[in-house]
Amino acid sequence: MKRVHRRTVLQAMAGTGFLLTLSPGFLLTGCDGGVRATESGTLGLDSEEYDVELNLYATPGSVSILPGTPSEVWRYRAELLKGPESTVSENPDSYLGPTIRLRRGQTVKIHIHNELPEDTTVHWHGLHVPSDVDGQPRLPIRPGEKMTVGFEVLDRAGLFWYHSHAHGDKGGRVGFQSYAGLVGLLIVEDDEELGLGLPAGKNELLLVLQDRTFAGANELVYLDGGMGAMMDRMRGFLGDRILVNGAPPTTRKVVTRPYRIRVLNGSNARIYKLAWSDGRPVTVIGADGGLLQKPEDKPYAVLAPAQRLDIWLDLSDSRPGSTLELISDSYEAGMMSGGMMGGMGMMGNATLPAGGHFTLMTLKVTDSTNITEPLPTELARARKKIPVTDATPVRQFELSHAMMRGFAINGRRFAGTTVADGEKVRLGDTEIWEFRNNTPMPHPMHVHGLQFNVIRRETRGNSRGWNGLTQGLVDSGWHDTVLVMPGEAVQLAMTFERFDGLYIYHCHNMEHEDNG
Ligand code: C2O
Ligand code: CU
Repeated sequence: MKRVHRRTVLQAMAGTGFLLTLSPGFLLTGCDGGVRATESGTLGLDSEEYDVELNLYATPGSVSILPGTPSEVWRYRAELLKGPESTVSENPDSYLGPTIRLRRGQTVKIHIHNELPEDTTVHWHGLHVPSDVDGQPRLPIRPGEKMTVGFEVLDRAGLFWYHSHAHGDKGGRVGFQSYAGLVGLLIVEDDEELGLGLPAGKNELLLVLQDRTFAGANELVYLDGGMGAMMDRMRGFLGDRILVNGAPPTTRKVVTRPYRIRVLNGSNARIYKLAWSDGRPVTVIGADGGLLQKPEDKPYAVLAPAQRLDIWLDLSDSRPGSTLELISDSYEAGMMSGGMMGGMGMMGNATLPAGGHFTLMTLKVTDSTNITEPLPTELARARKKIPVTDATPVRQFELSHAMMRGFAINGRRFAGTTVADGEKVRLGDTEIWEFRNNTPMPHPMHVHGLQFNVIRRETRGNSRGWNGLTQGLVDSGWHDTVLVMPGEAVQLAMTFERFDGLYIYHCHNMEHEDNG
């Protein structure tokens, strides 16, 4: 079993395993020898004029997350060089990167500066961009180096995000770097969506859900040593407390009116079962790739790592003084629930197991208003579903589990830029990709560079004790990440448009991903 990366400073502490101290002090030992990426021109779209230009720094820092000592983190910072003021909004009190707001049709140039002691990349999760702009591990940015990427915003309006996607010789660094704080939101706006006049400004709540574990002086703790680390790699890292936008859950003041709540699951591995504390349905209006055609009421909504949901909440009928909580409701998480493997001892993390029940946000209604903005019955028109017929080719991907060696797709693991024969796609084609999960765990499968439709979800085998999530899976609309439950076969329709070259697909449980 591989240990935490040697370039991180480790301290063994009784009972808590290893602490990560993300100190810039290890910069000196962190530099790679060898080849440096030499900066030459712009990757992707290279034009004379861009509508938006910015510097994005990946840099060590320190931020107060819990009371007491600030925690050392790695984070993004941005500097707007050109474009509308609203393009970049910093999250100064959080490790979260600045929220980047783009308009469809804009051309964008971003200079990514790596001020970290190890290689990194920036992946624009969900965006349809050229392969070289996609932040793939094959184009690492070395410590102290800069890389410039250019692209046109082709996607329709939606909530996307950006995060590190580094994968070195010794395994992936996505889990570590994202955990350390290298995550930010990216919002695309377009005329169609703006035309709906959905709640905006302070009536649009952006929530990034993550879980973290802290040690005594508020150091972030990532993979534990020994048996715990082995389990963490197998199931994915679960923190023992929830952070929303990089801070412990809070109470927000709201008024009697509708709200738009846009949620990213930026956790390494945790799956959320979003529900309202008073049992009202969750009204889903959008997913990864933007608004659904029509709103959908669900008893609860499942949000797997990397997925986004757009939720409508109408508080018009609420009483001033009342409160409502956004919770993650409990569900059965197979052996992670504690059954088979003997519970806490083995699973570590007694306080917040997979499938646990906890509060994400409390809304306190303070004032009444007369604002009644009806929820549009039709939300999206512009993008037609991908047409599939009986003749559309189906490509199968079998997710399997090799004890002690982790998970595999069609028996293979990540092999850098090596592409298997069954992984070559012709530009312009529409295909059905079928993921079959023959493992004891759900896997949030992500395909880079496009948005797909989920066209079928079938139970073929045993759910391996994962129960209570089925009714909350949001399959309509457009997605770049789909949760495939144990025993399920899920079919996706996708068209490979515009850009040729290498793209990647993988499970977005970051420990599974890093493990290849
Ligand atoms: Cu969100 Cu391959 O990544
Ligand atoms: Cu997985």
